[in-house]
Amino acid sequence: MSTCEANIKQPVIGEELRTTSMAANEDGIAEAAALLRAGRLVAFPTETVYGLGADARSGSATARIYAAKGRPRFNPLIAHFASVEGAFAQGVFDADARALAAAFWPGPLTLVVPSRSESSVCDLVRAGLPSVALRVPSHPIARAMLAAAGVPVAAPSANRSGRISPTTAAHVLGDLAGRCDLVLDDGPTPGGLESTIVACLGGPPRLLRPGGVTREAIELVLGRALDGAERDTLVAPGMMASHYAPRAKLRLYVTDPDEGEAVLDFAGLLRSRRRTTYFDLSPAGLLEEAAANLFGHLHRLDASGKNSIAVAPIPTHGLGEAINDRLARAAAPRS
Ligand code: TXA
Ligand code: MG
Repeated sequence: MSTCEANIKQPVIGEELRTTSMAANEDGIAEAAALLRAGRLVAFPTETVYGLGADARSGSATARIYAAKGRPRFNPLIAHFASVEGAFAQGVFDADARALAAAFWPGPLTLVVPSRSESSVCDLVRAGLPSVALRVPSHPIARAMLAAAGVPVAAPSANRSGRISPTTAAHVLGDLAGRCDLVLDDGPTPGGLESTIVACLGGPPRLLRPGGVTREAIELVLGRALDGAERDTLVAPGMMASHYAPRAKLRLYVTDPDEGEAVLDFAGLLRSRRRTTYFDLSPAGLLEEAAANLFGHLHRLDASGKNSIAVAPIPTHGLGEAINDRLARAAAPRS
């Protein structure tokens, strides 16, 4: 029986933990690695957002992730690896997948490929699917932690299911204090948007989630247009219409905000209508800066207690595709 099968039946719902926060130095990384090997939950920085990690080989460890986040078990997790070779050993990579891995790993790209029968990633991480989502992060702390742990680490974004993704340790603690063992604090994450997810499952590669690597960069490597995920189809099981949801209602593509509404601006477009609650994703109109600021500003707007947020139009090219995707989900009606 595999570790996964042996452990999968242990219930871990409703566990209350003492959450420690440590600086991401040598001691912090050693503690994180030891906890991961012991089947515990560690939140850690990546180049995209903070992840909530557990040993991807273990059913009981990864069950803790689903419990801590309140995540439905049909929604699979991404397995993170210290090395490209480690990730290659888990799945079947066709020529496109190999080209994308060569171009963007380590970095903010997740590849969904057919799982190998000898893969060490357990069933629960894949939510029982025949495919597996693999990522080799570039963030030095994530890499050091993965190497020290010596195990693949399953990690969704370190937020409660459906809520705004965390780009600081404080965001993680706001959502998951008492629900994970350790937060490795390395300040704000540089990228700010989750990884781009591309499925290479035999046919032409498909974009399941826009993210930190732009469609344009991927198409340049593939030498052809990327099949998009049709809107309204549940392509990545986790891509629900409503996600990243702040407490306030979001109105998108606004050029004339209402009186008393909070404003989330881009490139100073709504500056003349500046309110007490006003944030600009990038006064200079840079999409990289806007991506890095997006979740932080949504967290700040959430804390402001405003009921309605007017969001300026954001360009749709480059990282704008992922920014608009996240905003559309944040604005979607909640169930
Ligand atoms: O940047 C990121 O990707 C962050 C950091 C922590 O690495 N992680 C992250 O994980 O965003 P999460 O769980 O929030 O989003 C993972 C997405 C989900 O929408 C899930 O449904 C999809 O990946 N996914 C995972 N395995 C899949 C599979 N086999 N087929 C299709 N989609 C999959
Ligand atoms: Mg997430």
